[in-house]
Amino acid sequence: MTQYAVVGDPIAHSKSPQIHALFAEQTGQAVDYNKHQVSAAEFKDFVLSFFADGGGGLNITLPHKEAAFSLAQQHSSQALLAKAANTLWMDNGELWADNTDGKGIVRDLHKNNGIELKGKRLLVLGAGGAARGALAALIETSPASVIVLNRTFSRARALQSDFSDAYLLEIYDYNHSDVQPCDVVINATSMSIGGAVPPVLPSLLADDCCCYDMMYGKEPTPFMQWARDNNARQVLDGLGMLVEQAAESFFLWRGVRPDTAPVISALRTQL
Ligand code: ATR
Repeated sequence: MTQYAVVGDPIAHSKSPQIHALFAEQTGQAVDYNKHQVSAAEFKDFVLSFFADGGGGLNITLPHKEAAFSLAQQHSSQALLAKAANTLWMDNGELWADNTDGKGIVRDLHKNNGIELKGKRLLVLGAGGAARGALAALIETSPASVIVLNRTFSRARALQSDFSDAYLLEIYDYNHSDVQPCDVVINATSMSIGGAVPPVLPSLLADDCCCYDMMYGKEPTPFMQWARDNNARQVLDGLGMLVEQAAESFFLWRGVRPDTAPVISALRTQL
């Protein structure tokens, strides 16, 4: 059995061990996946000793994604754009970092839910870590345009600047009213946690719009409820993204792609 784990603080809530156990069972891979609560002060030593002991790979969650990025010697293009990593592994004595969150949301939208991104107008709400991770992959789908709205405009500007070599993001704050309607609207803010909805004008939803909340829960999130009230054609939560980003990590480590559909269904029934 090769050892894998997710590292964060807190970590008790993490569904990653269950997801990877289901992947391992389904694919017959010799994967033993655990979770570890590790403080910021202990993070570097933990990672280095995990791999020195022969560990196969780590997933990294809050608040260590930026530290994981900094610790690695080699980075995928998406980790470089996100400036954050959720997946680590060793190759030829070097620590590699990827960010599979973006691939996860793209696969959930496109493969699982049939949402076309190519040639579409994509709107991302928020400019924090979650938005960065998603945008790193969304810009590679050949959209017509990618618009970012954020409460703190300076943060959107910093994001635009970091992405400028790869893609010209359009950025606005929520008060801006001349943004044309968008085909896919992704809530990458943390506002659902507080039961609130980003102050987006309903006129930004195109007629056949898909609204996606990167959060998920037993009940529809406030943003999903808002999207339904404003006649979005498809309204989705982030459970599929969670499983897809895990599948991308599993694929990086093991070279085998698990079937995500039964795992998403299993997790859905447990919410
Ligand atoms: P994460 O890593 O989850 O993205 P984050 O980096 O703290 O967390 O980013 C949270 C995002 O939610 C930010 O875009 C934040 O907007 P600001 O940059 O203006 O802070 C957004 N957000 C959180 N609470 C908000 C609120 N009450 N109104 C509008 N945006 C909010």
